[in-house]
Amino acid sequence: MKLEELKTPAFLIDLPRLKANVQMMKDRARNQSVSLRPHVKTHKTAEIARMQTAEEFPGITVSTLAEARFYQESGFEDITYAFPITVNKLDEAAELTTKVKIFNILLDQPQTFSAVEAYGREHGITFNVFLKVDCGYHRAGVDPSKRESVQLARNLADSDFIQFKGILTHAGHSYHCHNPIEVIEIAEQERDVMVQFARSLREDGVDCQTLSIGSTPTAVHAPGWQGIDEIRPGNYVFFDKFQADIGSCQTKDVAARVLTTVVAHYPDHNQILIDAGALALSKDLGADHLDNEIAYGGVSGHPNLKLFSISQEHGLITSNDPLDFQKFPVGSLLQVFPNHSCLTAALFPEYHVVENNRVIDRWVPMRGW
Ligand SMILES: Cc1ncc(COP(=O)(O)O)c(C=O)c1O
Repeated sequence: MKLEELKTPAFLIDLPRLKANVQMMKDRARNQSVSLRPHVKTHKTAEIARMQTAEEFPGITVSTLAEARFYQESGFEDITYAFPITVNKLDEAAELTTKVKIFNILLDQPQTFSAVEAYGREHGITFNVFLKVDCGYHRAGVDPSKRESVQLARNLADSDFIQFKGILTHAGHSYHCHNPIEVIEIAEQERDVMVQFARSLREDGVDCQTLSIGSTPTAVHAPGWQGIDEIRPGNYVFFDKFQADIGSCQTKDVAARVLTTVVAHYPDHNQILIDAGALALSKDLGADHLDNEIAYGGVSGHPNLKLFSISQEHGLITSNDPLDFQKFPVGSLLQVFPNHSCLTAALFPEYHVVENNRVIDRWVPMRGW
């Protein structure tokens, strides 16, 4: 099928770029002797997860229990649900614990520990649990410098209804960086915080099996992972404009695009209307700490075009110079690099797989919670 035959807006995946990105992270993990447990929330498809896990890396990371169910039904046998568990999800987590060969959950609150333990005792079930650690992002996780955090790990390790799996963190503050040099500092902090916390747990007699870290920027730039067992990047399969802007990749590595049609010309305002708005791109502002001029994505092949305004279905493009409208006829196609490919992908019910400018496959992601 030709791109011109697709209805727009449409989500495109450049297959050779996707394959190269998947391979790049496998090679990094292999060369540094860590396990790769990719976060599959970026795409939520069985097809890409199979590519990421083929060969020696069977485990995956998910962000919802619906994803966990989907991947269990698709044959995945080692799944970490990397969002802190809540009491109202314990029934579902218990069911997955019985169905999936290895199903890990995580928590960072003493109250949640008590609830998980009580649930396990009442239902005769042993949950695999990671302690979530805050390595500097300050979104979730225990403070590793606090005595209470060691105590919570000890409680997890001592429980008869919990298998304490280890400690897990996500260095999301790597997204605040301006360049790879700053990302390397965060990557070293992510590693050092975890290695030191594991050391203090072990000195306290708490067996800490697995040290799990990972974000795409730190996974791309970390100089080494000594003492770390697994990494969990996700976005790297597609990358996006944000990652290119902070130096995780080059624009040519971005495997995700939104195909959109030029709807109208407004020469009086130096504007072009396209049919990709917030429901095709998300309203993620991208790396606005680097450039505060608003852009809801980059237009492929046209760095001078600015996608400066979006509403639900409308997108407006302008330029600092007078637009050459003849170059972008009404009805012609443009491709937009999303600011944040995970959010953009989540807006589409199907992905079109592209090679040599032709659509060669169609992948259907899972949806829902
Ligand atoms: C807990 C956790 N692990 C891993 C990741 C993957 O990081 P990235 O999206 O930078 O690849 C995320 C992403 O938000 C996350 O929340």
